[in-house]
Amino acid sequence: MIQRHTLGKIPPQPHTAFYEDGKLLMEHCHTREGFDGAFSILYYRIPPTDENAVEMITIPGFCPFEKLEEQPLHRRHAVTLKLKLSGDFLDARRTLMFNSDVHIGMAKPSKTSTRFLTNGDGDELYFAYKGSGRFETLLGVLPFKEHDYIHIPRGIPYRIHWEGSNPEFLIFEGRGFIDIPKEYRNRYGQITMYAPFCQRDFRLPENLLEYSEALHGKAPYHLVVKREDQLTVHLHQHFPYDLVGWDGYVYPFAFNMHDFHPKTGYIHLPPTTHTHFAGNQFVVCSFVPRHVDFAPQAIPCPYGHASVHMDEVLFYVAGNFTSRKGIDSGSMSLHPAGIPHGPHPGTYEASIGQKKTSELAVMCDTYKQLYMTKVGHDIEDKDYHLTWIEKEGG
Ligand SMILES: [Fe+2]
Repeated sequence: MIQRHTLGKIPPQPHTAFYEDGKLLMEHCHTREGFDGAFSILYYRIPPTDENAVEMITIPGFCPFEKLEEQPLHRRHAVTLKLKLSGDFLDARRTLMFNSDVHIGMAKPSKTSTRFLTNGDGDELYFAYKGSGRFETLLGVLPFKEHDYIHIPRGIPYRIHWEGSNPEFLIFEGRGFIDIPKEYRNRYGQITMYAPFCQRDFRLPENLLEYSEALHGKAPYHLVVKREDQLTVHLHQHFPYDLVGWDGYVYPFAFNMHDFHPKTGYIHLPPTTHTHFAGNQFVVCSFVPRHVDFAPQAIPCPYGHASVHMDEVLFYVAGNFTSRKGIDSGSMSLHPAGIPHGPHPGTYEASIGQKKTSELAVMCDTYKQLYMTKVGHDIEDKDYHLTWIEKEGG
């Protein structure tokens, strides 16, 4: 929802007869929030309603996932490098933490898939931790590269395709919505000049999806629909993503994290300045390489704090993580509200005088408590919360 976008052919006005080769096309209005929110209008060659069979499937650890029953309140660390997965982008997906507003998971697919997913539970925000390829979506093809965010709106079918090494993704699933923060838009919807990104940083689909038997197989075509963490497969006799065109405000987009414009202050700025996306009761923030605070006595390392209304998840991507020890690329820490957190011993002092930081990390702050799933717990560094203890004489 960055600006109006259009691909292919559309009639001059909506809800009017539109033909291709003498055949009336099916208009399809994809609307959010009833009919009050953003919408796109699509034109199908063949109505996507010709499913001839429906079956339910399960992918344990994703749909459904299990909550870890006993969760004492302390700092946690999931070592996602330990997460060994295989299969397509659905079989190789797991939920690691969740609350009623956002699910946080990972996918490490080892093979491409002919089936598509429609997420009926919410918008999805992928972060390409590794790899490159393309998201094939109903509204067009969206190439992705390493460290891209890829936003897939609720209800838009897609699959992931790539050549070469297997990709790995961090995934946020926003139960309400995921968008750019409204504070970054002016009253015309345009992104303001003081936002940490601009309209030009967003990449939109440029080509409609074209059917290829080699890439998409033969009928029946499998569309997996997720709703309330249940998966239902719809089998279609015709390729159900064959559009003549569409226009509107609902479509997938990509944004490379390195295009985020970091801000630096005279003294340390709060993490709020890193806010990149906002959902219902949560935000996703980008920490990218930058110059640090420049006051003569500035301490660039984040101060200890108790942000008493928010749980905080940090996914470490690359670079030197100035505030933490025992953390590496692929680490996912969870620091719950209710207990203070801050830099590890020694890192605070070591940051004084530094001019730059090379850290690359994704943060998610949530108002509601996050819970660990059993899969998340299986890959935990269980002594992480004890690593702030300063050793005698050390
Ligand atoms: Fe924090």
